[in-house]
Amino acid sequence: DYVKELLDLKNIEEQLEINLGIGQVNIVPGDSNENPLVKKELGKAAAKVLQRFVNDGDIIAVTGGTTIATIPENLPKLSKNVLVVPGRGALGEKVEIQANTIVAAMATQLGGNYKMLHVPENLSPEAMEKLTEDPKIQEVLEAIRKANILIHGIGDALEMAKRRGTSEENLRLLEEKEAVAEAFGYYFDKDGKIVHQSNSIGLKLEDLEKIPLIIAIAGGKDKAKAIKSIAASKKQHILITDEGAALELLKLC
Ligand code: F6P
Repeated sequence: DYVKELLDLKNIEEQLEINLGIGQVNIVPGDSNENPLVKKELGKAAAKVLQRFVNDGDIIAVTGGTTIATIPENLPKLSKNVLVVPGRGALGEKVEIQANTIVAAMATQLGGNYKMLHVPENLSPEAMEKLTEDPKIQEVLEAIRKANILIHGIGDALEMAKRRGTSEENLRLLEEKEAVAEAFGYYFDKDGKIVHQSNSIGLKLEDLEKIPLIIAIAGGKDKAKAIKSIAASKKQHILITDEGAALELLKLC
């Protein structure tokens, strides 16, 4: 907190809460674009927030990505009677940063249980539909829909599409539709409007309306545009970001 005062981050947090319309904004010093250690600080801040809010009986849905992947290692060993589930099925990420992997690590730290969604990416819509009918998958999907805490990352639209090995054709489509942000399988334009959706199962955007605590974690100057777009959907209650993104966001708001 001393460092925050020194950098006037408290003041910026308040300004962003007003400008973005998010109840609570937490900023960690530094820019994760320039210094990878700052990403770990985001994980530490997120772990603190989670510990403050987590209760027995909670169902926590988490998404993948390198930022969310830093949360479990920053959680102490707890004994919470919680269930951790992935927000969406596979989205073309490497195993280390897939939601399923993070779910298992997070549940271990929290002392709770977890369920994974074993659905490969890039299935045909028909195959996806068939798979969704499977009772075991249905069970996981039901748990996901009952989640009362969602922790999700935010990415730059084109960067995420490339990381997932999206086809040239889809990349062009995203460019045409001026997608700037990606979160839980959805691509958004600068005003927070959905312009494209990944072929994956799990949380739908409308499910977010019923989730009482949604925590977004994303930092780095380059993500400011994406964060602003996601904030425009007015679904997040807490944003954990870094100084690099925050200063850029102030310029955009
Ligand atoms: O693919 C999962 C995901 O959470 C995306 O929804 C998001 O855009 C991305 O990861 C963020 O990844 P990173 O934290 O590595 O920037």
